[in-house]
Amino acid sequence: MSDTPYDMIIKGGRVIDPALGFGKDAHVLIKDGAIAGIETDEAVFGDIGNATVLDATGKLVVPGLIDAHVHLREPGREDEETVITGCRAAAAGGFTAVCCMPNTSPVIDNQETVMFVQDRAEVADARVFVVGAITKGSQGKELSEIGDLVKVGAVAITDDGHWVENSEIMRRAMEYSKMFDIPVMDHAEETTLCAGGVVNESFESTRLGLTGRPAVGEEIAVLRDLALCRVTGARLHLQHLSSRRAVDAVRKAKAEGIRVTAEACPHHFILTDEAIAEEFNTSLRVNPPLRSADDREAIIEGLIDGTIDCIASDHAPHAEEEKDCEFDHAPPGMIGLETTLGLVKTFLIDKGYLTWADAVAKMTINPARIFNLPGGTLKQGLPADITIIDPDRVWTVDAKKFRSMSRNSPFVGWELTGQVYRTILNGRIVFEQDQ
Ligand code: DOR
Repeated sequence: MSDTPYDMIIKGGRVIDPALGFGKDAHVLIKDGAIAGIETDEAVFGDIGNATVLDATGKLVVPGLIDAHVHLREPGREDEETVITGCRAAAAGGFTAVCCMPNTSPVIDNQETVMFVQDRAEVADARVFVVGAITKGSQGKELSEIGDLVKVGAVAITDDGHWVENSEIMRRAMEYSKMFDIPVMDHAEETTLCAGGVVNESFESTRLGLTGRPAVGEEIAVLRDLALCRVTGARLHLQHLSSRRAVDAVRKAKAEGIRVTAEACPHHFILTDEAIAEEFNTSLRVNPPLRSADDREAIIEGLIDGTIDCIASDHAPHAEEEKDCEFDHAPPGMIGLETTLGLVKTFLIDKGYLTWADAVAKMTINPARIFNLPGGTLKQGLPADITIIDPDRVWTVDAKKFRSMSRNSPFVGWELTGQVYRTILNGRIVFEQDQ
């Protein structure tokens, strides 16, 4: 505790807080790790004592970003990422909170593993909210003890990486999730159609001689799970939507009042499967796969009209030696925590698809509301989790600068506009650009 009125003043930036409907030049005041207020009038904090003053002139000051879909790989693959390094990457990307997926080794399907990750996260540079597995070992055969997972703080359940093929099990999972008011996150790719596929099923897959994962696999999975969501009244969160018909189905379901939300990842609103032939870069191998230009457009339309609520990275670190192989042998996934913000600015905001306020909402208050997380807003009294963005800074993605332990990004070498300037967690600066 200090005897000055505030510990930190973020001065002169444009404060954007969609939850508060606030978007003005203002000063953010921090005291004892919490937001003490947002002031437009400098006279109010005339005596700053020995508060740290962060000059945010020309910058955007927004609630700490939240990434609803991140793989931290601990326990089990600490050579690819750990809770600590993943959270360092999060901070460098402007994220103060992440939801981590349970496809670790062992799978996060029991209280001990949830608590293990939470324990690791205690000293990390971002908040970690653990998502538990729907089924034991994510094998799709037997439900996890969902109540136990929730009791120790799991914020959702998913078998991410796999679709729960058994409809009866998925129905029960939804019924339990409703009892605990958590969403079921859904990797919607119908197994029998998609098994063995490594790229979108299309003219491209035929031309390249690679096995396809058809968009209809996503559509079928989404339609079944929307139907189960309708009968159970549960909350369904569709992960990484990638195809037009899936987006259309979610739009219709929302209009009908079904409790569904959805996320999209930068690679699905920026890239198409045509990028693969250029150099067979294995960082482009991802599930669900990169699809057609029409699908990509549909994702953007879904983001614009609110069908898609969140932008998430699906940060999926993989070891270099495992990605350094033929395209169809590479494990699926790409890292994204450190590039998402720049990609959103360059490919959604600069192109006029989303305003800053819309984009920030999809990375703050929307995921906070869906997963019942604290934060996502700069409301007075809440922990001071804040991201300061340099909106016009042009930078080149440099693999050597990644805080993540892995390097599997297809965006390496790309020039982006918009970069994190400072990331603040609990009133503490956890990331400074150029430091
Ligand atoms: O591409 C992917 N990689 N999709 C997933 O669903 C899982 C993820 C991973 O864990 O690497």
